[in-house]
Amino acid sequence: MAPRITVIGTGYLGATHAAAMAELGFEVLGLDVVPEKVEMLSRGQVPMYEPGLEELLGRHVAGMEGSSGRLRFTTSYPEVAEFGDVHFVCVNTPQRHGEYACDMSYVDAAFESLAPLLNRPALVVGKSTVPVGSAARLAKRLAELAPAGTDVELAWNPEFLREGFAVQDTLHPDRIVAGVRSEHAERLLREVYAQPLAEGSPFVVTDFPTAELVKTAANSFLATKISFINAMAEVCEAADGDVVKLAEAIGHDDRIGRKFLRAGIGFGGGCLPKDIRAFMARAGELGADQALTFLREVDSINMRRRGHMVELTRDAVGGALLGKRIAVLGATFKPDSDDVRDSPALNVAGQLHLQGAQVTVYDPKGNRNAQTIFPTLAYADSALEAVGGADVVLHLTEWREFRELDPERLGEAVSVKHLLDGRNALDPELWRKAGWTFRALGRPTA
Ligand code: UDX
Repeated sequence: MAPRITVIGTGYLGATHAAAMAELGFEVLGLDVVPEKVEMLSRGQVPMYEPGLEELLGRHVAGMEGSSGRLRFTTSYPEVAEFGDVHFVCVNTPQRHGEYACDMSYVDAAFESLAPLLNRPALVVGKSTVPVGSAARLAKRLAELAPAGTDVELAWNPEFLREGFAVQDTLHPDRIVAGVRSEHAERLLREVYAQPLAEGSPFVVTDFPTAELVKTAANSFLATKISFINAMAEVCEAADGDVVKLAEAIGHDDRIGRKFLRAGIGFGGGCLPKDIRAFMARAGELGADQALTFLREVDSINMRRRGHMVELTRDAVGGALLGKRIAVLGATFKPDSDDVRDSPALNVAGQLHLQGAQVTVYDPKGNRNAQTIFPTLAYADSALEAVGGADVVLHLTEWREFRELDPERLGEAVSVKHLLDGRNALDPELWRKAGWTFRALGRPTA
């Protein structure tokens, strides 16, 4: 019989994983400690914007018309322990307040709640991004707490999904990493992922520490790539070069590749910034901090971008921000998401506001979340509304609808036709032809 699956924690990762597992044909029970989340998901509604996820849920949530009925949600650990053969732990590991290290309290709580209830054979699979060494520690905890003893095992199976592509990345992963200590655990994971494996997803079997490190190493590499091109943008600005052309040219070398070389206001979100910091903190604990000091530079190049955008804006409005009307297009940390966690766009908008500018923000999906964090900014329902009377327009998240804006039409609404592209995603020629002063990070001024 196919293993029955539970998913503990139903955030971006868990909700997507649960729906994907149901799509792959398994009976799935998702758990969250927040009853409102469980109620929403049980109605087939997703607490965040993620393309395709609501449709996927709708196809499987029990009680929804025409659904497979394979997916249910609960707040009960005993129910989960009773139901599952494979338990995926998908809770978040945010940055600890005032520290670089990550906060393991949700992961620890999940293990402490589940383990004492495991009376029958089960594989617990960690998916959360954790400091290396956590899996070994948690395996020990499982052995101490689980009544079923050695019939309960741990595996570490990091998740690489990108927001905005979460469904696609979960159903068709570009690799599956399985940190295991036994053939049995490996076999069970191969069974769970039989479909993507049959489609050709590579399956990399490792020990616990390597599996944990794969995730943080991958995110560190991506962050480094972005900060590299942003450092080049700084040099380009000093030397009157064009970082977009430079990225295109070096990207033709397939050892370098074109992806993740878009210069702009840098990376944000719930993963890259906190993951590189937690990685540095962990390396420090292990006495390997020297190996990762470069990540400190990666982080500071990234944070510098935000300040630089503020300075460019100040220049654009003649040297003083006080009372200036600024339109900000984009609030989320990337397009196709409503996530504003550590969003460079919102950070820039906030800094401008705190320095006395009158900032109006428009984001296709992120207004509501942004409003919760920055209620003092003004919010508009469209790009056109946001730019009304603006002294300068800032393009800070590269939503498709911003690329399709009509420079002529916007030109009639603003007070001054001045545009700063913080994402290098708009066509300078198009805007300049319509009479705009157009500036982009790391590109020549005209
Ligand atoms: C990331 C990893 O890609 C994913 O594999 C991991 O599982 C979780 O963290 P995500 O946070 O969804 O995913 O976003 P990602 O697409 O990596 O983008 C991160 C940030 O980098 C965004 O703010 C984006 O705007 C920025 N970015 C990306 C750039 O500034 N330039 C680029 O060229 C690419």
